Formats: sequence, C-alpha cells, structure tokens
Amino acid sequence: MTEVKFQPSTKGLSGEMEVPGDKSISHRAIMFGSMATGTTKITNFLQSDDCLHTLEAFRSLGVAIEHQESSITIYGKGIDSFKEPTVPVYFGNSGTAARLMLGLLASLPFYTVIHGDPHLTIRPMDRVIIPLKEMGASIDGRGEGSLLPLGIRGRQLKGIDYILPVKSAQVKSAILIAGLLADGVTKVTEIDTSRDHTERMLTAFGAEVHVDGLEISIQGKQKLTGTNVHVPGDISSAAFFIVAAAIVPNSTLTIKNVGLNETRTGIIDVLQQMGGNITISNEQMIGGEHFGDITVKHSHLRGIEINGKIIPRLIDEIPIIALLATQADGKTVITDAEELRVKETDRIEATVDVLTTLGAKIEPLEDGMIIHGNTNLSGGKVKSYSDHRIAMMGAIASLIAKEEVILDDDSSISVSYPNFLEDLHQLTQS
Ligand code: S3P
Repeated sequence: MTEVKFQPSTKGLSGEMEVPGDKSISHRAIMFGSMATGTTKITNFLQSDDCLHTLEAFRSLGVAIEHQESSITIYGKGIDSFKEPTVPVYFGNSGTAARLMLGLLASLPFYTVIHGDPHLTIRPMDRVIIPLKEMGASIDGRGEGSLLPLGIRGRQLKGIDYILPVKSAQVKSAILIAGLLADGVTKVTEIDTSRDHTERMLTAFGAEVHVDGLEISIQGKQKLTGTNVHVPGDISSAAFFIVAAAIVPNSTLTIKNVGLNETRTGIIDVLQQMGGNITISNEQMIGGEHFGDITVKHSHLRGIEINGKIIPRLIDEIPIIALLATQADGKTVITDAEELRVKETDRIEATVDVLTTLGAKIEPLEDGMIIHGNTNLSGGKVKSYSDHRIAMMGAIASLIAKEEVILDDDSSISVSYPNFLEDLHQLTQS
C-alpha cells in the first residue's frame, strides 16, 4: 500500500503515446488459445495482475504457455488435455476471469475450486451460476452457492435459450463458452449490446457464432484452432488520458493503436456530444477487431444526459467521465448504470466520494449520478477504494486541482495499467 502525492501542474499534455493492451481481449486470447488445438501467438498482451491470473489458471490446468513480456505463445492441445488442478485457482481481483472461467470449468470432467481477493469474494456470481445450473452445472460455494470461493464439479452440459437479466458481457461470455462445449444449441438474448470480443474472437479461432441483433447463438461441441491475436490498446485505459487532454488547457494528445470496437467506444461519443475536440485516424481491422489513433485537444464542454443503450459501451469509463463532467458547462446526468454498484467496488459511492473530497458538486443516484459542471477542484486526500479505475481517476483529477492531491494507495492500478503513473509522469513532467 503506497500513498502517492500529486502536485498541481499547469502543463498541457502533448505528443503521442500508447496505452497497454486491452484487458478484455487479453483474457479471452489466453482462454481461447488454451482451449484450441495448435499454436496461438498473442502480441501486445496486457501484463497486468488480472490477465496474469488467467494465464496462471491455464498453466495450472496443464497448458504449456511461454510468456516473454507482452508476447505469449500457447501450445494448445484442446480441452481434452486439461488436467484437474491440484490447488485452488486464484483470480485475484478479476471478475472477468472468474466469471468466464466458470463457463469453462463447469464443462470439464473434474473438480476445481476457484477463489479471489476480498473484493472479488463479495461480487455476485449467481448471475453466471443460475444459467450454468440450467445447463446442468454443479457449482457450490458460500452465500448459498453464489459467492467465491466456489467448487465446480464439471459435467457435460446441455444448450439453453437464455434471456440475460443483467447488462453484462461477462455473463454473456460465460454462457457462450459453456455453450461451445455443450450438447445442442445455446442462445443468449441481451438487453442492450455489450462488448462482443467473445463472439469476434471465437470466430477468429474457427468457431461458428450467429449474431442476430441482440440474439447470439452457438452450436455446441465445436473445436477451436490456434491462431494469432494482436491485442489493441485498451480504450478503457486510454480513457484516462482522453479525459486528461480534454480538461487540461494547452493539450493536444494522440493515443495510438487503440481498440475502437463499437461496443466499447461510448466515451468517444460522449466527448463528441459534450462538444469535445476528438478525432480518429489510421483506422484498420486486425483479427476482427477495429484499431485506430485518437487525438484529443483541450475543449470547451457542455453537460449532457448519458443513459440507455450507451451505458454498456462505456460502463468502465463512468468514473473518469464524471470527472470530465465537473469541467463542463451545466449539468450531466448519468442513469441506467446500476451495474456500477457491483464492480470492483461500488463505483457510484466511490466516484461521488472522491470528487466531493476534491470540491466537485456531485450527487449519487441509485443507478448513476448528477454532476454539476464548471467547478474548480481543490486538493485533498482521496481514497482509491482498492479499485484501479477510481485510483486512476483521482490521479487525473490532480492535473486540474489547485492544490496537492494525495491518493491513499496506488496498488490497485496494476490490475489493468501497471505503468500508468510512469506514463502520467512522463506526459506531465517532461
Ligand atoms: C468485461 C465486461 C464488463 C467490464 C469488465 C470487463 C469483460 O463487465 O466492466 O471490466 O471483459 O467482459 P460486465 O460484463 O459484468 O458489465
């Protein structure tokens, strides 16, 4: 646990940068590469705590994986080669790893125990366990079988037709992974479109996935074939610097090779609607994912309403969007974002607390928040809530604060962006 002090800085952010690989895509590349037959090479893999837990999980299932910095080689031998792990599998802080792996482990012919850190241990797993049990899974654990640690006795599952009660790509993905290994067809219907990396990457690994609007179907008993995956920069990490450049005077910053999958680009749409100066260039498609460069300039912003279909497209960016909104003219109202209550921490409570401490005018709602704009931020001591996105939001807020900002603990940042503080320092101090 390390406290960090940020001094006020008036320097604009300029030049070019890259952010590390996408967290969601890195997890899936390890999973599908391990489930496939043949070699998978992953480049620009995110070497963060969350993704390294997924990598170690597959090693404990017996998969041969070489790891050299951001390059990974997986020597896949298919799911039939997986062995029962001798010790509980640890997923740290990662909801994505735990939930997606439940879909896989429920289908493997052995017993596994999974556990995580104190934050993951209180996050709801029943949203995945309920549909998996409908498919025939045998899973038990704390909280009447809904909380980690969980024990999974793998079985042959059967396909289901399931309407998702929550807006969650993690739940969708867990069911699709189980569906890939099940008997028959599995169909999942979403409320609003959530990130579709699972559907795209399964296709790249040779599976057939049918997407028809909000309905996704997958035929069971399909085999995956190893392939190469180049991971784009994580737009959720880029979001911190997108907002920094938009709110710090004299900034013009280009973030190169960022993932621009439409299910993730809500932050770009929001900044444009607020009047922000943001442009995209050098767009290309690699392995079914859209990449490009994002250039942001300091902008005069106006408050907007953020709700409905856009919410899953920016769910992880809401804390940093709330900071953005403190600098806009008028009011920004965010609703339909009740999922924030069950993220790494309650992100509505945490965002409101951190920004209030720094002098912002922000009110919590059950499913979002109201941010009153045009506020000068003061300094203060803020809590990270052991949540990477809250810690990084506090650090970016310090760029426009009038006095010193002290972050109580920077250790959670390594969950998604281990070099964040170095990158921030380089942009603001050099
Ligand atoms: C993720 C989906 C989102 C997101 C998380 C990563 C994924 O969670 O918040 O950081 O990789 O599928 P939900 O799908 O539960 O909203």
